[in-house]
Amino acid sequence: MKRSSIKKIAVLTGGGDCPGLNSAIRSVVQCCTLEHGIQVVGIPDGFKGLLENKFETLDLLNTTGIFSRGGTMLGSSNVDTPFSVPVTKGGKKVYEDRSDEVMEHLARERIDAMIVIGGDGTQAIAHGMAKKGLKVVGIPKTIDNDLNGTELTIGFHTAVTTAVDAIDKLHTTAESHHRVLVVEVMGRNAGWIALFAGLGGDADVILIPEIPYELEKVAASLNDLYHTHKRYSIVVVAEGAKPVGGDVTVNRIIEDSPEKVRLGGVGNQVAMQLEKLAGREARAINLGHLLRGGAPEGFDRILASRFGAAAVRAVMDGSFDTMVSYRNDIVELVPLETGAGKNRYINPESQFLRTARERGIHFGDT
Ligand code: F6P
Repeated sequence: MKRSSIKKIAVLTGGGDCPGLNSAIRSVVQCCTLEHGIQVVGIPDGFKGLLENKFETLDLLNTTGIFSRGGTMLGSSNVDTPFSVPVTKGGKKVYEDRSDEVMEHLARERIDAMIVIGGDGTQAIAHGMAKKGLKVVGIPKTIDNDLNGTELTIGFHTAVTTAVDAIDKLHTTAESHHRVLVVEVMGRNAGWIALFAGLGGDADVILIPEIPYELEKVAASLNDLYHTHKRYSIVVVAEGAKPVGGDVTVNRIIEDSPEKVRLGGVGNQVAMQLEKLAGREARAINLGHLLRGGAPEGFDRILASRFGAAAVRAVMDGSFDTMVSYRNDIVELVPLETGAGKNRYINPESQFLRTARERGIHFGDT
């Protein structure tokens, strides 16, 4: 094995939490301790903790039992970046670049390298820090599965299973009352969760951001269904879905967050309009943060194990400014730039999309 000068690494989780983060932390700690004999420290609350110069030792003892637990033992933040820190000066809010300061915190703590577990926003910060000389490797996570450069992110599979379980339960009420049930799922501007949840939950309609919808067409397909073989319907809507010529439904704006817009509410709109257009009783439910909760399922635990081990390997090999990535069942390294602030959307030629259309699932466009 190549000799490495790495003695101590830091790990943080940034962005929205998801199932599988603790599994990745545990994997990193095990590989560092048992395979390479190096120290690990955790940074609490993502880049917020780094700004506040906070570090906590991670070892085999204090990470025992976390592997199967949801959330992140380190805490996370999806609003903090060292490149733009809000401060009040002369009664006015201004934003300061404090990235030099966090580099000093890392040097003082004698951190040789960092593993950053996050989505596109977190990887963009990590890449920015790499440009300042930080030795960093990224691990992709997000329930949205929308990170460029990897076919899968930690958390996605569990979120899909949670959504499918919920949809299964909604079938019965929809069927008993002959209703249209509209299920909104997270995913930002990508339709991965909606597409997979709809496929797995036997939905009749899936509305995704990649395919702007026309509700008149959706209503016609639901009525067609009603008069032929099915007197209830399940419509899965991605929070980022929008009508042809229209825009997304914004839930709130968070001024200090690098990504300011939080989506939400489209499910209600779709249900109200479908009730009028189809003349059938409709209800909406937003699964929201439920999708980020719970224990990681087996697949996510294994993915997190592989990503954690591959990230530690990359650190020990000196392959920095990279991100571990999943492609065709192989975990490999891609330049960190590939995932930094960049997203991956559903391709119109996607086999998943094709399968859904062949099963008669409507996307609001035909
Ligand atoms: O990126 C994960 C995610 O859950 C998105 O699906 C959702 O749009 C967003 O985070 C919600 O963010 P918050 O927890 O700040 O409301």
